Amino acid sequence: MSIHKEVASMPRRRALQVLGATGFGMLTGGLPPVTSAAESGFATPVLPEGQSAPRLARDEAFWREVADYYDRSDEIVNLEQGYWGQMARPVLESYQQATQMVNTRNSWYARRRYPADLQESTRRVATALGVESDEIVLTRNATEAVHALLLQYRGLQPGDKILYSDIDYPSFISTMRWLEQARGVQAIRLVIPNDAGRDQLFSLYREAFLAHPQLKLALITHASNQNGLIIPVREISREARQRGIDIICDCAQSWGLVDFTLPELEVDWAGFNLHKWIGSPVGVGALYMRRGSLERVAPYPGESDPQNRSVALRVHTATSNFAANLAIPAALDFHQALGGANKEARLRYLRNLWTSEARQMSHIEVLGAGDEQSWSGIASFRLAGRNSAQDAQALQQILEQDYGIFTVARYGLESGACVRVTPQVFTAADEIGALIDAMSNLRSRV
Ligand SMILES: Cc1ncc(COP(=O)(O)O)c(C=O)c1O
Repeated sequence: MSIHKEVASMPRRRALQVLGATGFGMLTGGLPPVTSAAESGFATPVLPEGQSAPRLARDEAFWREVADYYDRSDEIVNLEQGYWGQMARPVLESYQQATQMVNTRNSWYARRRYPADLQESTRRVATALGVESDEIVLTRNATEAVHALLLQYRGLQPGDKILYSDIDYPSFISTMRWLEQARGVQAIRLVIPNDAGRDQLFSLYREAFLAHPQLKLALITHASNQNGLIIPVREISREARQRGIDIICDCAQSWGLVDFTLPELEVDWAGFNLHKWIGSPVGVGALYMRRGSLERVAPYPGESDPQNRSVALRVHTATSNFAANLAIPAALDFHQALGGANKEARLRYLRNLWTSEARQMSHIEVLGAGDEQSWSGIASFRLAGRNSAQDAQALQQILEQDYGIFTVARYGLESGACVRVTPQVFTAADEIGALIDAMSNLRSRV
């Protein structure tokens, strides 16, 4: 019988003795601290010594070993991994154990020990992002984080302007449009060409800043969920700062897809997901607010923060999935065992495998950046000249039904609808080969 089941079936006083005797200590009612995957003795992949990230990216044998850490379905080739990220088995086990433990101990755990464990998970997230714990609050997803920033931003007066682009996340664009009505501001839409490179991306934002001196706030998406474009956030943020424009950075898709830490981006505010490329359980995001930047964003309605000291008061998540937050250390352990740079290189390699072939096909239009640094492991495509929502839906269905390849249609880009392709690090080169064959056969459908 597990310790949880044993304890659950004991009279209360005896249970406390057992927990004490198992070395759990007297602190906070004798409850054990949260344990990370490494501390729990879970295995994580061992990197071959002395391999550069680009070389490791091509090592199918190594990535097959990594794939063995995941429970994968053989019913479909899943190239829609940008929605949310599967947990590796050590993370799943940590999550399952935490679920059982929390369910067994119920409010005794939640009231006595959870705050300290949550703090430890927050510390791990902050450290991994290269910032301080008091600059991070955990949320249920990136939407909760970015919405808090958009809706509680204090800097808008009627007549001001706010900026977004067509590669931004559609629901955040809707919120920007809602701000027009709610705050009497004007939302400016920036159109970003699919083949833009770093210099052009920077110039587009700079020109928009120059053209609209009334701009107060800009939403910037680090990695687009539409076409995988990576925006040069740091350069744009520096330019914005000089002009008094505040930046909200959407890092929902970028953390784990791209290898970076927050100080590199030089932004005051950002929203994150851990349930995409970090591989935590679903229901884990984070809000970052740089020290000294809290004044410009109001606390969550009804919360009082007279000294503007607490990022935690910017969201009100209330009761949420305890176990998901307890599995954060295991997810970060697994992510760090693989290495952010190795993951990024592998994903870029897999994207190159199919886009380099697809670019030779006259019936296919690949949507991706003009230079390598502005393009992540995500890319999109469409049949040449076929950019309606129905075209993209039909293409997605052909891939799924005729070829057993799962992708997703995306509709946000100014250039029209497309199909997004998102491999995971454990996607095999053979699976990308199946996509290339299918794309080649699509010629007969044009
Ligand atoms: C760029 C981007 N922003 C925001 C989100 C929202 O993430 P969530 O639904 O986890 O809040 C997503 C999700 O796909 C995304 O890709």
